[in-house]
Amino acid sequence: MTKPRPKIIVTRKLPDSIETRMMELFDVTLNLNDQPFGKAELIDAVKNCDVLVPTVTDRIDASVLGHAAPRLKLIANFGTGVDHIDLKVARSQGIIITNTPGVLTEDTADLTMALMLAVPRRLVEGEYLVRSGQWSGWSPTSMLGRRISKKRLGIIGMGRIGAAVARRARGFGIAIHYHNRHRVGADLERELEATYWESLDQMLSRMDIISVNCPHTPATYHLLSARRIKLLQPHAYIVNTSRGEVIDETALIRALTSGELAGAGLDVFENEPAVNPKLLKLSNVVLLPHMGSATVESRNDMGQKVIINIKAFTDGHAPPDRVVEAMF
Ligand code: 8YV
Repeated sequence: MTKPRPKIIVTRKLPDSIETRMMELFDVTLNLNDQPFGKAELIDAVKNCDVLVPTVTDRIDASVLGHAAPRLKLIANFGTGVDHIDLKVARSQGIIITNTPGVLTEDTADLTMALMLAVPRRLVEGEYLVRSGQWSGWSPTSMLGRRISKKRLGIIGMGRIGAAVARRARGFGIAIHYHNRHRVGADLERELEATYWESLDQMLSRMDIISVNCPHTPATYHLLSARRIKLLQPHAYIVNTSRGEVIDETALIRALTSGELAGAGLDVFENEPAVNPKLLKLSNVVLLPHMGSATVESRNDMGQKVIINIKAFTDGHAPPDRVVEAMF
């Protein structure tokens, strides 16, 4: 008798080739119309599958995981960040978590660099001027932004994405500084000519641009607190392509409004998909809809990783991208 195929539930529409392969391999329920699951649907899903494939838009907290026993064995997240999943509760229930690291590093770093250019050089304001027909022609003093070369970039979180941002920024003549839980290896520091700051406070007060590249964990929630935002220089810019929760958004808006901070490029927000209306009124920000990994290539590679993790696990092997709390 052949073993029944594992039951997989996918919470969002995935790239076509990934869905096709999943249908070949597994007994899978897809979400073809891409309506995000509500809490009741998530509870129903964890009760009725062996493997759940969620994304950042699904809050998998204790009240959802409370319904997971006895069936759910694996949560194969489509995405690298797992802050939307209660890892502790999952572990206590013996549920394995996997993610998709590595494959979205370069694309997310590209978008970080794009924001790092867009805000000081006022790209969105300039585009609006042209598109709205309000541009009356070149002038020596209009649309002046700030130079980014020769400036100091402070990277918070020197993991894969942080290092990829540093490599790009070096090409723009920017000096690399970083704060990380642990100092990175001497080889990487040498390659990036990076200066390590054990004290985040001290680094913040000396940088021209800050890039947030650490994961959101209980330890990094509001890492950029109101107090720390005050340490930044008034000409400094912040770029965040990690998670909105790492920055106290209310304090950030206050600093951007009062002139204590020059500008911000944000791909992520504290209460996604809601965006604080005060941010929408500011001209010194560039706001993007969480699209760091939004390329055809990244999303296909992320889907491949999800499949490999499920296949390894359901065939009785260790999934390659298992997440353990100690990593964060
Ligand atoms: C993903 C991300 O698109 O991988 C991550 O952590 O932030 C995004 O790039 C999203 O999380 C998909 O779940």
